[in-house]
Amino acid sequence: MSENNPSDKPSGSPPSGESPRKRRVRYKGTHPRKFSEKYKEGRDAEINEKIIAKGGTPAGTHRPIMVDEIMKHLDPQPGKIYVDCTLGYGGHTSEILKRIQPNGKLISFDRDPIESAKTEARVREHVKPADGTWIVVHDNYSSLENQLKSHGITKIDGLLADLGLSSMQIDDPTRGFTFKQEGPLDLRMNPLEGEPASALLKSLTQEELQQILEENADEPRARWCAKAILDQQKKKPIETTTEFANAIKAWMKTLSPKTREQEGDTPIRRAMQALRIEVNQEFTSLDQLLEQIPRALNRNGRVAILSFHSGEDRRVKKSFQAMVRMGQYQSVSPDAERPSFEEQRSNTRSKSAKLRLAKR
Ligand SMILES: C[S@@+](CC[C@H](N)C(=O)[O-])C[C@H]1O[C@@H](n2cnc3c(N)ncnc32)[C@H](O)[C@@H]1O
Repeated sequence: MSENNPSDKPSGSPPSGESPRKRRVRYKGTHPRKFSEKYKEGRDAEINEKIIAKGGTPAGTHRPIMVDEIMKHLDPQPGKIYVDCTLGYGGHTSEILKRIQPNGKLISFDRDPIESAKTEARVREHVKPADGTWIVVHDNYSSLENQLKSHGITKIDGLLADLGLSSMQIDDPTRGFTFKQEGPLDLRMNPLEGEPASALLKSLTQEELQQILEENADEPRARWCAKAILDQQKKKPIETTTEFANAIKAWMKTLSPKTREQEGDTPIRRAMQALRIEVNQEFTSLDQLLEQIPRALNRNGRVAILSFHSGEDRRVKKSFQAMVRMGQYQSVSPDAERPSFEEQRSNTRSKSAKLRLAKR
């Protein structure tokens, strides 16, 4: 979306006294390739339609997943109170807001202060929630109960968590979430908190990195992958996404041609995912959230959790099953629901989604 692009300003001379405006980035060829060149995406309806028709997501935006299934389960009603743990681009939040007015309340969390500030401004402008209807909390969803208490809320009627990253975070190379473009190896959802992934790498032993690759991303060759990354780290500390990807690509040359062909970029993706989960302590936050949800919900309150890889889904499934055994949930969906074939085709980023539902 254009808000991500500081160079996306109208051309022309600035009035005297103002700093000179930056020119738009000119790109070679017929199509922009870099994020900074895709300044029309997200704001030009015709371009967006073409990208969406091909199953893509316009740069700097995010397409919400399984909206109908989630709304059907949560069934947001006027006057009731809901939590969206993961505001992102605001797709699900907007749908809930439209349904709960008048007199409803929605509390939307996001730990990313950069994207959530932009989303808040955009949703306030487009959805125009009534005063007091919508509270945006720039915090980790693991602080659920504390935040509800500080806003004078004792119980809620429904909660959604759409886990992982938003497309805007992935698209912006300065955040370091993609190896497809050069950027700092950062990977923090909140860049004002903790240490970037490049700093974490400096402190890890091979055994520790191996464990992170195994536990956070099920990397089957974790020992060798960890060794390759730390061997490169000893030669020259890894600071960028490309250097990180190149260390893994160099190791992959030692694999058989058949394995290399079968795996493609997957080992790099898995290693980025594993580091990201570690840097953001994602499993700890999720475990803390899952434990708090039943206490926060009213009787008959609903929960919907969308996850995108096995480590997340395993946690949600186990927590829901344990809560049923303890009498905390009346019912949980027996299996994870998947996006319809149509949605998977029309939004390729929805393909790995799994939705689990529960009722207090
Ligand atoms: C998949 S996106 C959500 C997209 C959103 N449902 C929409 O419709 O645009 C996930 C969002 O959750 C946020 N997030 C991830 N873990 C979080 C946590 N522990 N606490 C708060 N926000 C978190 C990320 O910063 C990201 O913006």
